[in-house]
Amino acid sequence: MAIAYNKRTHKNGELRASDAGKEVTLVGWVQSYRNHGGMVFIDLRDYTGVTQLKFNPDTAPAAHEVAQRLRNEYVIAVMGQVVPRGENINPNMPTGEIEVETRAVDILNRSKRLPFEIMDECDAGEEQRLKNRMLDLRRPINQAIFRLRHRISSAIRDYFNANDFVEVETPFLTKSTPEGARDYLVPSRIQPGHFFALPQSPQIFKQLLMMAGFDRYAQIVRCFRDEDLRADRQPEFTQIDMEMAFVQADDVMEAVEGCVKEIFKHGLGVEVQTPLRRMSYQECMDRYGIDRPDTRFGMELQDVTDVLRDTDFTVFKSAIDSDGMVKCLVAKGGGALTRKVTDGLADELRGIGAGGLPLTKVVKGQDGPEFSTGVAKFVKPFCRQLCEATGAEAGDAVFFMPGTYNDVCKYLHYLRTRLGEILGIIPDDQWHLLWVVDFPMFDWDEQEQRWFSTHHPFTAPRDEDLHLLDTDTGKVRAKAYDLVLNGTEMAGGSIRIHQPEVQAKVFRLLGISDEEAKAKFQFLMEALCFGAPPHGGIAFGLDRWVMILAKAQSLREVIAFPKTQRAVCPLTEAPGEVSDAQLEELGIDLRPEVKARKL
Ligand code: AMO
Repeated sequence: MAIAYNKRTHKNGELRASDAGKEVTLVGWVQSYRNHGGMVFIDLRDYTGVTQLKFNPDTAPAAHEVAQRLRNEYVIAVMGQVVPRGENINPNMPTGEIEVETRAVDILNRSKRLPFEIMDECDAGEEQRLKNRMLDLRRPINQAIFRLRHRISSAIRDYFNANDFVEVETPFLTKSTPEGARDYLVPSRIQPGHFFALPQSPQIFKQLLMMAGFDRYAQIVRCFRDEDLRADRQPEFTQIDMEMAFVQADDVMEAVEGCVKEIFKHGLGVEVQTPLRRMSYQECMDRYGIDRPDTRFGMELQDVTDVLRDTDFTVFKSAIDSDGMVKCLVAKGGGALTRKVTDGLADELRGIGAGGLPLTKVVKGQDGPEFSTGVAKFVKPFCRQLCEATGAEAGDAVFFMPGTYNDVCKYLHYLRTRLGEILGIIPDDQWHLLWVVDFPMFDWDEQEQRWFSTHHPFTAPRDEDLHLLDTDTGKVRAKAYDLVLNGTEMAGGSIRIHQPEVQAKVFRLLGISDEEAKAKFQFLMEALCFGAPPHGGIAFGLDRWVMILAKAQSLREVIAFPKTQRAVCPLTEAPGEVSDAQLEELGIDLRPEVKARKL
């Protein structure tokens, strides 16, 4: 009689010594097969863990005969009795005190030879694993990631429910939403020559929902951005999107902090202390060179322009004379870095556009610290002042960066992160949450000679800076806030413009003509004219939260079916070609050179 596989009595991670003597029915995948002098041992796996099955040829010959035909990843159902393992206890396994003396076994399905083994340490390449993602996801490490993801999203949903947020779904087939990336376009069959854009975020819709009187909205929602991929970017990703009416920035931040507490509590069992630390954009840039600083370690940027003002060293002098600056990083213990390492860092910096990496090391001299190696001879006259100003001591390395403010920030942020990694001074068991506030409202683009919004065009200027919109645009600060965790931007949001005249003015400043604004955002402009309440909100990247909390290296690890760096899915081989008939229906002609191109 077939084993009732739908009536399993236990999961494979559950049985303990106290269950000895119980008759059990188990199901799962064959994790491993061992034959010890005729006795067959199988590890049976499901999502909870592994139980050892024993097949004895003397007491259960029929089951033993079937067991000999089992191979890895066969799906089986077994019946038997839980017995203590006696001397062979395995303390490394939760079920290691027992095994199941198997009386009957049914093969529910067979498996072909696997492209890689189902175990945490898997040496298959990523492309291979993603091509066989259903097998890759069987690995316990991946099961744990997706259960963590589930705990996080459940905690967020519970938080929203408890705090009066309403979940409203917003459209995927929509118009372009400006978040700074390219759109994914979907051609319309019924309106040939017209395209939907997949939303880069539900930004405008959530604002409309506030105007519709929902007061508090939240949605766990997919967003689509066609941008250059990096480890922390995917073309489709999930946002926890929220918006609130009649609020100021502090209210949104407080609501987010409540949610963050729940994420940490349910995700990792960690208590987060609130209110979270805040730092202005300017302070972040001055101290860390980036608006999403990793505050788990120090090694801050130090401005030594004044100390070096009288230098003859042309590299520094020309930067200072042309209104630039010299900043430095003092790497504690960096004196031990080899030439190979520092040359490698200089090469990396050149790779991202820096002119080089002037550095020196501090050694003990007769009358105090002295510089040796690198640019020592150029900075020697300023040794005492430099050491006093920066706290550099014997054994340290000092890395200088001359240039414009923006360049110095860019290169020293890069260097700080790399030195942190190389020197092993970034603690990986700490969670540093930081609000970055007081962002500038606009960024000047030298190449295009125009202003861009730092956040998005719907972000409100600070009331006290409103008058600067026309006179000193670059000085206007936004009512925007970003949440940073260990150097990664986890969430970004703002208070929105709710007066149509201010919105029209901001569009104009951004070089969006009245016509373009009408074509793109007429519905928003209209809505603003019918009693739009003051409102604001934020969106978190759910994938990024899971990535950081799971200590994963890339978003691909925490998305069930991700795209690769080339923005393709190796499993389904999407994007794919479509038939000529489909193209014709859509009124689309591919250019011959595009047609000829294969992925
Ligand atoms: P923003 O563009 O800052 O804001 O996005 C919010 C958060 O979404 C995550 N994120 C991404 N995650 C993975 N892959 C990507 N390509 C990607 N792009 C963004 C980040 C980021 O902090 N509508 C506004 C929010 C608002 O103002 O309310 C918005 O989308 O974690």
